[in-house]
Amino acid sequence: MLRTHTCAQLKVTDTGKQITLCGWVANRRDHGKLIFIDIRDRYGLTQVVFIPKECPADSYEKAGQLRNEFVIKLKGLVNKRPAGTINSKLATGEVEILAQELEILNPSLTPPFEIREDIEINEEIRLKYRYLDLRRTKVFNNLLLRSNLYKVIRGYLGGKDFIECETPILTKSTPEGARDYLVPSRANLGQFFALPQSPQLFKQILMVAGIEKYYQIAKCFRDEDLRADRQPEFTQLDIEMSFINEEDVFSLTEGLMKLIFKEFKNIDIPVPFTRISYKEAMEKYKCDKPDLREQLKMDFAFCWVVDFPLFKFNTEEKRWESEHHPFTAPATEDLENLEVAPDKVKSRSYDLVLNGIELGSGSIRIHRQELQEKIFNIIGLEKEEIQKRFGFLLEAFQFGAPPHGGVAFGLDRLLAILSCESSIREVITFPKNSSTFCPLTSAPSDVEDKQLKELGLTVRKGGK
Ligand code: AMO
Repeated sequence: MLRTHTCAQLKVTDTGKQITLCGWVANRRDHGKLIFIDIRDRYGLTQVVFIPKECPADSYEKAGQLRNEFVIKLKGLVNKRPAGTINSKLATGEVEILAQELEILNPSLTPPFEIREDIEINEEIRLKYRYLDLRRTKVFNNLLLRSNLYKVIRGYLGGKDFIECETPILTKSTPEGARDYLVPSRANLGQFFALPQSPQLFKQILMVAGIEKYYQIAKCFRDEDLRADRQPEFTQLDIEMSFINEEDVFSLTEGLMKLIFKEFKNIDIPVPFTRISYKEAMEKYKCDKPDLREQLKMDFAFCWVVDFPLFKFNTEEKRWESEHHPFTAPATEDLENLEVAPDKVKSRSYDLVLNGIELGSGSIRIHRQELQEKIFNIIGLEKEEIQKRFGFLLEAFQFGAPPHGGVAFGLDRLLAILSCESSIREVITFPKNSSTFCPLTSAPSDVEDKQLKELGLTVRKGGK
């Protein structure tokens, strides 16, 4: 290590120790001949003072050249701060470092904004210089929270025998209600991969494979209009289990959420969560994502919305379509209505709603090939198309598919709630802006004609 301590570590008990710190210059103040700097790393700040007589001349001279965001290595002696200069707001506020040796590891241009918490910065600039934005405590803490949340999730599910499995990113379209992001294939000209809108089909196939308890912290991709709680690529906690019913999903989820809110908010979330039928939610709250905070007198109110209709009628296309996705099982008692009165069929799906925000969604699935085919028929898919898009799933169902079900949670939405942010962009390391553009890398961007040619593609210039 280049350093002996972090910038948040030194205490008055370290007085007299010779130490080395590394970090960024947070600010420089000249008081006559004394030069003060604050050195910052991801842990915190430490004050350093350069005194001409006690610091070699070359280091003192370099201290005069320091500007904000220069990267430095600093050797010095820990000194108890004189009375009246103690900063109680700082973990290291009782000490300062008497500088002995300064090395400038890298200078810095003047940053486009100050690395401070208490100023408003235009979001476009923040995203363009995200690496500077991430040096700010609030955004950094959101990243840290994500990392800690993943540890808790992995511990909880790992402890319950779940297996973390990866599923492909280059794959086939999975219908989740949005447009696909397509990737042209060079090896198969004219053919396209789709980026997964969710790992739905693969997790079901993993159940056929006998995994029984699967989870994945999965990247999902959806080409849809963006909002504060929507990004084109986002992260789901995706879960699937075999030989279970709704109650197993509910209690697994409630245990996980209880643990997360205790760990990160020190709040005891009451379980089981309230359950509301879709019909009641629509009648009472006029929406299927009721915010029950006032009614339940709680700062976090979870509820399950259940008994959704299996289908909704698409009036433009004059056909039935799935309310969730077409792999959702119909309620057993409504099976007889499937073909005669699709509007009367309820589904075995459930949504998890927190403070009026849809945090997760799942269902008990169809695991029999005949029923799955029937659902595809009702939503207007022709035999040939069913075969082309979902033949592999229907085939897999014929090799002993167990009854199964699961759920997926939007982790960006959960993190935004935990960190009291109004947009999920605040909890995503490198988010896209509201025009689905990355100001840091300028993606999406043109590609070379050579690349298009290799892929057998031509772009129509000037629009449609
Ligand atoms: P669903 O489409 O409801 O279900 O997605 C599950 C959860 O993912 C989050 N989410 C999003 N978060 C950020 N940006 C987006 N564009 C976005 N879209 C969805 C939401 C949502 O509740 N395969 C099924 C789950 C299952 O049946 O197991 C699925 O993906 O929090």
